[in-house]
Amino acid sequence: MRFYIDNGFLEYDIRGKGISLLLIHGYPLSRKIWEPQLDGLSEWATVISVDLRGHGESFPFGGPYTMDLLADDCNRLLETSPIQTPVVVGCLSMGGYVTMALYRKHPELFKGMILISTRPGPDSAEAKINREASMENAREHGATFIADSMLLKILSPLTISTNAQLMKSIHVVMASTSVAGIIGALHGMKDRQDSTALLSKISCPSLIIHGTDDQLIPITEAELMHQQIPNSRLDKIANAGHLPNLEDPSLFNQAVRDFLYSL
Ligand code: MLT
Repeated sequence: MRFYIDNGFLEYDIRGKGISLLLIHGYPLSRKIWEPQLDGLSEWATVISVDLRGHGESFPFGGPYTMDLLADDCNRLLETSPIQTPVVVGCLSMGGYVTMALYRKHPELFKGMILISTRPGPDSAEAKINREASMENAREHGATFIADSMLLKILSPLTISTNAQLMKSIHVVMASTSVAGIIGALHGMKDRQDSTALLSKISCPSLIIHGTDDQLIPITEAELMHQQIPNSRLDKIANAGHLPNLEDPSLFNQAVRDFLYSL
């Protein structure tokens, strides 16, 4: 489905019945990463997955995309679509940065939060330099270069050695992201706010899911969030990397179903 916003549009899918579950992807990904969740969770929830600005089939948007701007887009989508609020927000990595921005502005929208492969802190000085280099690489060499450089880090060693099909499809998703989208998101992530102090103020029930072999964001970040978010639980997915929802969809969906059932 298409949602017109500013001078462009966001694409989103909506499927199922019951409690609303909004899924927000990471960088440089798209709503395609949530296909196993649309298939596996729509008997239990109304699942909505959206392509953020500059990603997937959303079109066209120049950056930079601050996390606040991406959060506002999600809020506007919730306001105008048939989705019942409050919602459970499930968010992966950069999607988690967006979710923190959304929670800061609109805590009343949240029935629950599922934080996947994400972290609360801002970029270090070194990470900011790396973002600049990635922007330059995207400008000069395009999205395929970025996809090539991320592929072996975004999945776990086990997934890489056993699931060539997933590797191929994730590469296609990343390489299909527009260069403007890549640069816009890198800008926004580089300048994002520190959300560490927000953690203790999150009052909705929260589930944290993290792969034990995440090479992009270490599992210690998930442990830190679990310590600081009052009503939270942590599910570690063994042998999964940065995309546990795709690397072990049955374990992942079971964890989400249990959490939705508990609400
Ligand atoms: C993501 O998966 O969204 C990114 O790896 C997050 C980041 O680069 O900080």
